[in-house]
Amino acid sequence: MIAVVGSCNVDFVIPVAALPAAGETVLGGDHLRTPGGKGANQSVAAARLDSEVAFVGCVGDDELADTIRTALGDAGVDLSWLREVPGTPSGIALITVADGGENTIAVSPGANARLGVPDVEAAGSLLADAAVTVVQLEIAPEVVTAAVRAARGTVVLNPAPARSLPPELLSEVDVLVPNRTELAYLTGNPEPSTPDEAAAQAAALSGPGAVVVTLGADGALVVRDGRTTHVPALPVDAVDATGAGDAFCGALADGLARGDSLEDATAWAVRVAGISTTRWGAQSGLPTRTQAMP
Ligand code: RIB
Ligand code: NA
Repeated sequence: MIAVVGSCNVDFVIPVAALPAAGETVLGGDHLRTPGGKGANQSVAAARLDSEVAFVGCVGDDELADTIRTALGDAGVDLSWLREVPGTPSGIALITVADGGENTIAVSPGANARLGVPDVEAAGSLLADAAVTVVQLEIAPEVVTAAVRAARGTVVLNPAPARSLPPELLSEVDVLVPNRTELAYLTGNPEPSTPDEAAAQAAALSGPGAVVVTLGADGALVVRDGRTTHVPALPVDAVDATGAGDAFCGALADGLARGDSLEDATAWAVRVAGISTTRWGAQSGLPTRTQAMP
């Protein structure tokens, strides 16, 4: 069983030729309204790969909550720990996606910001039993800390979006999964421009048992015990990279829950993340186990 503690949103996505700069208005194509949120995306990613997944999170009491629930439920995610917050909007994300798949994302957390330590406490038996617990940073920092502490299995922390973390928390994380930007933020360095630079930054980060750095078109790095393994990316024609990091984390959890080595789970995650970028939407492009098999 995989437990995911995190956010769920509805994404409003506008395809544009080029991302708008500050102060600029750009005209795009018809918008898509699709389920998203890093926690929900990671849950659906692992569930599509046939893992048993339970999601701990909050929705609002608006009609967007139905979209969020249906997407998670259709993927087979256990929603016993999903709480509806009265008088509060569900989380949303406003996303622009440029030709080639690059994006900008602004999130209004809404109900996600109301997920509290009591919700984590209520999920105590789940977090004690889960082989893997996955957490991201679209929820309150004290909830992240509570979830990491309550988890008895392998703890995967995706430090996204980049925010500061209590340094002592990192030492309770088994696998930290940052992208380049998040790695630079956590180490206080400029963004690494090569896989070697990223490996050096990850190796210098003390605390987590291992660091898996996602590098987009450069694949991913596994850095642990002073050793680095580079997994090259799957060559794909990306249309939308939204949620690729979430696809990666969900697949990594799936592999780890099945007992794969971190290196094998990373290779699996690179494949699943690559495939996810070939379709629009954070969740709609997530492959099934059969589709992802080499
Ligand atoms: O990681 C992608 C996700 O970030 C989107 O689905 C959006 O909802 C934001 O949470
Ligand atoms: Na996608």
